[in-house]
Amino acid sequence: MTQKSALITGAASGIGKACAQRMAREGYGVVIADVNLPAAGALAEELRSQGLSALAVHMDVSSEEEVESGFDRMTEAFGGCDLVLSNAGIQIVHPFDEYPFADWKKMMAIHADGAFLVSRAAFRRMKAGGGRIVFTGSVQSFVGSKLKEPYNFVKHGVAGLAKSIAREGAPYGIYAYTICPSYIKTPLVEKQIPEQARDLGLTEEEVVKTIMLRDTVDGEFTTVEDVADALAYLARDRGALTGQSLRLTHGWAMQ
Ligand SMILES: NC(=O)c1ccc[n+]([C@@H]2O[C@H](COP(=O)([O-])OP(=O)(O)OC[C@H]3O[C@@H](n4cnc5c(N)ncnc54)[C@H](O)[C@@H]3O)[C@@H](O)[C@H]2O)c1
Repeated sequence: MTQKSALITGAASGIGKACAQRMAREGYGVVIADVNLPAAGALAEELRSQGLSALAVHMDVSSEEEVESGFDRMTEAFGGCDLVLSNAGIQIVHPFDEYPFADWKKMMAIHADGAFLVSRAAFRRMKAGGGRIVFTGSVQSFVGSKLKEPYNFVKHGVAGLAKSIAREGAPYGIYAYTICPSYIKTPLVEKQIPEQARDLGLTEEEVVKTIMLRDTVDGEFTTVEDVADALAYLARDRGALTGQSLRLTHGWAMQ
């Protein structure tokens, strides 16, 4: 029996890294796809030193060529493509009336073009044998937040993309999902705390309490392990959940 394989974008850090570690432990051959090749390579090396299967590839998700060649390397190494997490992302916050068009385009290139290119590459390779395509959405797939218009736009968008792929993929055994966490303390969020404090005239503590955790029921951050658990669960779903957005939000945006 050939080993199952998973490709995770943005897997050199944060959520993607925890998901790569988890899926490797679940027995998958894992492709760690990231623009940060040294960090991706270090993670692949760490997993291999534990007797697990992992391969690092340089992949800028906004480049069609790099996405396609990364998937080709996956099939060469592991013989198939069973699970994909389209997760690479950045955050750029600005007051809306000052939001530079160049930053909007950067957000679209990574989040929108990236989600399209990665999921299309996966779909092409899953048509013969089925598979699961998962997007990292956000609580911002359901709510609106100050300073984040482009992020809200694309995170709403990936939830719609997953629904559409779920419908078109069903005849091929391709399932699609979105995992939607609320705030998790990763480098992406650590960077935003002082930036939001500056733009909103708050202290950093106020940003955490009155913005990031205010609408949760328990004042708690979500964790990277919560997302990895959800991914491992979806990897076993047989279609009952296809098209769904899973809200890991501590009660923020319950429906
Ligand atoms: N941290 C949170 O609170 C949170 C909550 C909900 C959703 N998300 C989403 O989760 C995903 C991962 O975020 P994170 O918090 O782990 O951030 P992170 O900064 O820890 O990791 C992001 C990774 O993406 C990589 N990356 C950036 N641009 C890329 C590109 N063009 N091509 C390939 N890789 C690229 C980075 O090198 C980095 O390794 C993002 O889509 C983010 O929007 C994060």
